[in-house]
Amino acid sequence: MYKIGIIEKIHEDGIKILDKNKNFEYEIIENVTKENLIKELPKFDAVTLRVTKLFPEILKHCKKLRVISRHGVGYDNVDLKYLKDNKIALLITATANAVSVAEHVMYMILSLSKGITQYDSLVRSGNFKNNVSKIETYELLNKEILIAGFGRIGKILIKRCLGFDMKVNVFDPFVDKKTIESFGGKKIDDIYSGIKTADFLSIHMPLNNETRNLINLDKLKTMKKNAIIINTARGGIINEVDLDVALNNGIIFGAGLDVFEKEPINIDNPLIKNKKVLLSPHSATFTKECTSRMSIETIENIINYFENKIKKNMVVKL
Ligand SMILES: NC(=O)c1ccc[n+]([C@@H]2O[C@H](COP(=O)([O-])OP(=O)(O)OC[C@H]3O[C@@H](n4cnc5c(N)ncnc54)[C@H](O)[C@@H]3O)[C@@H](O)[C@H]2O)c1
Repeated sequence: MYKIGIIEKIHEDGIKILDKNKNFEYEIIENVTKENLIKELPKFDAVTLRVTKLFPEILKHCKKLRVISRHGVGYDNVDLKYLKDNKIALLITATANAVSVAEHVMYMILSLSKGITQYDSLVRSGNFKNNVSKIETYELLNKEILIAGFGRIGKILIKRCLGFDMKVNVFDPFVDKKTIESFGGKKIDDIYSGIKTADFLSIHMPLNNETRNLINLDKLKTMKKNAIIINTARGGIINEVDLDVALNNGIIFGAGLDVFEKEPINIDNPLIKNKKVLLSPHSATFTKECTSRMSIETIENIINYFENKIKKNMVVKL
C-alpha cells in the first residue's frame, strides 16, 4: 500500500481514481505552512504538488518520498538538484493544460486589442456612445506575433493565431527551423529582431537564470508603440517595474499578465492600478475541463510510476 499526500485540493475526478484503487491511500493536506508540511509529509511515498514550495528544508524530513507529481508543467517550486541527489522522481501533467493556456492567450490578445473592458464600463456607466472614439482598438488580421518558447503551449497557440490570419514568428533556440516551418511559423534566431517588428509578443518558456528579466526596458524600448505583450508563462521573465514604465510612457500599448514575480501579487504593485494591463490570477488552466484533466493526469502519473508504466513525456529529466 502506497501513501499519497495531496498537497492542496485537486479536482474530484483525480481523487475518484484513488478511491477505486486498493493499492493506494491518500490524505489531503490543506495547511501548507512549513511547520505543518514538515509534520505531515514524512509518511508519504508520493505527493501531488500545486503551487506550494517544496524546498530541501522540508524535503530533508521526507525519507520515504519517491515521487513528486506536479499538477501542472512548470516546476520552479521544487529544487531539482535536491531531487536528483535524493533520487526523487518529478512528474508533470504534460498533456493536460496547453489548450487552456493557449485559449487564455487568445482571450487576452482579443480583449486588449478590442478594448473589451473599456467598452464594457462605458456601457455600464451610461455612456453608450460618448468617448467611444477615444478607445483605440485593433484587428488581428495580418498582424505579426512573436511566440517566444515553442513547446507544448507555443505549438497549440500558433494554430489559433494562424486561424486569425496573423503572421507568426517563433523564437526558441532549441527548436529547429524545419519544425517551426512545419507548423506555419518563421524561425527568428535573435529575440531583438523578433520583438522589433512584433505587434504581439507571447511568452512560453520556463523561468530560469537565463530567462529571468529577459524582457526589460532595453528590449521594450525597441518594440512598436502598438505592441501588446502577453505573459502566461512565469512572473520574472518580464521585469514588472520596466513594464509599468513602458506602458505609462507609451513605449508599448498593453500587456496581459496571468503570472507575477510574487504570487499573490502585492496590492501595492503599480501594475494593479495600470489600466493598460489586463490581469488574471494565474488562472489560465482553471477551466472546468482543464482542472479535471490535470487532476486525473496528476494521479494517473503516480499510479503509473509505481506500476512501472509511466510515460516518458510525463517525467522531468533531472
Ligand atoms: N499560466 C499557467 O497556468 C501555466 C500553465 C502551464 C504552463 N505554464 C508555463 O508556461 C511555460 C511554457 O509551458 P510549456 O508546457 O509550453 O513548456 P515546454 O517545456 O513544453 O516548452 C517550453 C519551451 O521553451 C523553450 N525555451 C527554453 N528556454 C528558452 C529561452 N531561453 N528562450 C526561448 N525559448 C526557450 C524550450 O525550448 C521549449 O520549447 C512554462 O513556463 C510553464 O511553467 C503556465
